[in-house]
Amino acid sequence: MLPQLLPSRREFPGDDPIFALNAEANARRSAGESVINATVGALLDDQGQLVVLETVMDLYRRLKPAEIAPYAPISGDPAFLRALVQRYWPDLAGPGVGCATPGGTGALALSIRNFLDPGEAVLTLAPFWGPYATICAEQGVRLETFPLPEAGHTFDQADLEALFLDLMHRQGRMLLWFNDPCHNPSGRCSSPIGRTRLLGALREAAKHGPVTLLLDLAYLEYAADPAEVDHALRDYAAFAEADSLDGNILVGAILSISKALTLYGARAGALVFPWTRDPALQAALSMSCRGAFSNAPRAPQSLLMQLARDGKAQVRLNDEHRHWSQVLETRARALSDALRSRKLAGVAWQGGFFVTLPARDPFLAAERLKAHGVFVVPMKEGLRVGICGLRTEEAERFAEAYAAALD
Ligand SMILES: Cc1ncc(COP(=O)(O)O)c(C=O)c1O
Repeated sequence: MLPQLLPSRREFPGDDPIFALNAEANARRSAGESVINATVGALLDDQGQLVVLETVMDLYRRLKPAEIAPYAPISGDPAFLRALVQRYWPDLAGPGVGCATPGGTGALALSIRNFLDPGEAVLTLAPFWGPYATICAEQGVRLETFPLPEAGHTFDQADLEALFLDLMHRQGRMLLWFNDPCHNPSGRCSSPIGRTRLLGALREAAKHGPVTLLLDLAYLEYAADPAEVDHALRDYAAFAEADSLDGNILVGAILSISKALTLYGARAGALVFPWTRDPALQAALSMSCRGAFSNAPRAPQSLLMQLARDGKAQVRLNDEHRHWSQVLETRARALSDALRSRKLAGVAWQGGFFVTLPARDPFLAAERLKAHGVFVVPMKEGLRVGICGLRTEEAERFAEAYAAALD
């Protein structure tokens, strides 16, 4: 162990466990075994190839050197931020306050730097996207969670109020990462009543200290029902417009083009607060960008700006999103049917790349599944199954192995 390495860094877990699982699945497949790999976090077609949206690649090929090579402005090109925000809230004139970041991951990290002191806690729902914990550890804060309601259930507002108040009493402020709609890894969306209760509880919390609600919108393009997504976004906008006025609630969004444009490797996203104009917040975000990564990549910003000017490309892209959402829906339905035919609970997929299956001991169940050549990601709350990489015809074999892995 290097004496130079800080003791606090020596406790870090190292590689992401999902990468290790994926590597093991690939190694067994290369050795000739028939493997189902449901650990993948990117959309694959039915031949197991990475889906790359054609409209996006056409736009990429048309980029000129001047749209790729120069540094981007420190906090991102304002036209990029506007285009990204208007994908979700088309009625907004601009991004308000915001900055471009290397993916949604960069935005999550910057939110900690600007809204919490070291040792404080981010709040989110469990189960959650695993790297949330890594990002928190790296930024020197804790991750506290409260449970996502079971399918068909919703939040109890009084419980949420008590939970938020407890955190307020401990740290005097609150930062909530809310990955909704199309939550990873449950594959579900909040219901209108669930949202009303959550937002109502935040309003109560804001009487005791500043509240920052960050909507993590990584998967919105892949919803069973786009109208449901629009409804949720309108609810959040109405809340932000009404409640940002008294100053104690700040609503923002973590945006990413990784899944939205299948440009995972382009590393582009943004942290935006469309309902405020606070110059101090803008200055703080710019300072964070400069200090953390100078500026975010130029090419994907140029690409999104091109897309915003090209109506035909938008229609074509929308068709591609609908096609792949239907593929995901078909896969989720096949899995659900295969589970139900074995007298197990089905899955309630509403959007995104994953579903979560229950298991009394998820880590043991995942090991047993591996013995059947089936790879999933175990979490405390269940098994994450990437329907983004699970083919429809694999559903029966998957369900058979899952049924055998339960005790
Ligand atoms: C819930 C959630 N948020 C944010 C991200 C960030 O992705 P990226 O940094 O590639 O934009 C991901 C990626 O898988 C995710 O699942």
